[in-house]
Amino acid sequence: MDNGVRPLIAGNWKMNGTSVSLQQIGRLQMLLGEAGEVRADILVCPPATLIERAVRMAEATPVRFGGQDCHAEASGAYTGDTSATMLADAGASFVILGHSERRAGHGEESALVKAKAEAAMAAGLVPIVCVGETEAQRDQGIAPDVVERQVRESIPGEAGGQSLVIAYEPVWAIGTGKSARTEDIAEMHAHIRRVLEDMLGESGAGVRILYGGSVKPDNAGEVLRTPNVNGALVGGASLHADDFFSIILAC
Ligand code: PGA
Repeated sequence: MDNGVRPLIAGNWKMNGTSVSLQQIGRLQMLLGEAGEVRADILVCPPATLIERAVRMAEATPVRFGGQDCHAEASGAYTGDTSATMLADAGASFVILGHSERRAGHGEESALVKAKAEAAMAAGLVPIVCVGETEAQRDQGIAPDVVERQVRESIPGEAGGQSLVIAYEPVWAIGTGKSARTEDIAEMHAHIRRVLEDMLGESGAGVRILYGGSVKPDNAGEVLRTPNVNGALVGGASLHADDFFSIILAC
């Protein structure tokens, strides 16, 4: 965390949460109120059904909300999908795109992720573009190439600075309790930074690169102190306000 960029701690609730889970937003608000200033921007990405209520609850706080996916079109005959415009209308400011669970489970390729990122930006949202290698790709020694390709093919050319966030999430570290080693995180984040600067010039230096994959209160400090790590994308531990808050305090 060394390029003077304010870190972002983002929670990804995935397909977890009904009305009762809004209590966690209330608890987070209380903890933040007690703590006063924190050193990170805070984002929660609950299921789309909860965004509007969460936004209303947290109006007076610095907590921002985001979606977990969007369609590449603004509207139309796409039964079951949600557009970036709709997320923005519900009060979202960010949207996670290209998460490995969507790349693997819904066959999303980088070209589609890029189209979605363009739609997100057009709607005034900041896309959080996820990239990451599988365990087999790491074992074959091709992780940097795989991730570089995902970055190059998934991000809009006009993005940069604070209008884009990248999340590096090794697939084998998601939800497994096996976080990547800090030296591997440092190496991959430096590689992503070089690719961003090559693609976007100076504004590539200001893009926040988050690490994701089994970030918990007990490893967050070490992960967040790693060079070129500008925050974290937190799954499981973001479902409990106290754990999520401990990660925020680790910045
Ligand atoms: P995890 O999930 O923290 O539960 O590993 C991270 C993510 O998928 O964004």
